[in-house]
Amino acid sequence: MKDPRKARRQLIAIIKEIAAGNYTDDIMELTGPQYPDEIQEVAEAVGMMMVKIEAREFHLEQLYETIKHNALRTVTSIAQALGARDLYTEGHGERVGAYAERVGRRMDLGDRECERLRVAGMLHDIGKIGFSDRMFQNDDMAPDEAMMQEIRSHPQWGHDILAGLDFLGPALEYVHAHHERLDGRGYPRGLCDGQIPLGARIIAVADCFDAITTDRPYQKGRPPEDAFRILGEISGTALDEKVVECFVREVEENGLES
Ligand SMILES: [Fe+2]
Repeated sequence: MKDPRKARRQLIAIIKEIAAGNYTDDIMELTGPQYPDEIQEVAEAVGMMMVKIEAREFHLEQLYETIKHNALRTVTSIAQALGARDLYTEGHGERVGAYAERVGRRMDLGDRECERLRVAGMLHDIGKIGFSDRMFQNDDMAPDEAMMQEIRSHPQWGHDILAGLDFLGPALEYVHAHHERLDGRGYPRGLCDGQIPLGARIIAVADCFDAITTDRPYQKGRPPEDAFRILGEISGTALDEKVVECFVREVEENGLES
């Protein structure tokens, strides 16, 4: 039989551990017959309580994942509604998200960050939902000042639309900053260099590449080699050199879709 005073101290130490959130199985040892009866009883009750708390936490985590998934689906549907308004936008978000995720994987950014890149890529142009109708008409008309103002505002609008979705975390900033340039001549805030998060730089490269290689009102889609050359020309001024290098290598090695 264990010394009751020692057993009590052991029990208190384990309860403190559990209270701190470290669910240890050590409590089960104290339910053995070598421990005094009252210690066994308390240990059994604490063990049971621990199991119930763990089960509830697991349930809450699942619930959070479901809510996150549903919220994401809702927002994605809104983003797809944009595709219905502007045929040229159809599929653009998905492709940019897929490219951005691949670059993230190639840069060893970790699963959570790669998931953020995919989501941010998918939603990066959601602010265009705020464009006035004339932005989607008269394709060959050069945009006037008011139209330019709308174009320059869409990353901010996108940020404002998504700001309530806590689970987006840093991805919100990637949407906000996807048209910023390293030399500070981007929009909407004119950020430069280190002020632009890596995630936004990755989305920017993927966005440019997809815009060049797919059909647009003002141009026919061009082959990847042309896009690589254009990315190279604005690398270091508009786009991040390392990201461009990584993107080109990824597409050269694994193709447009992988
Ligand atoms: Fe955009």
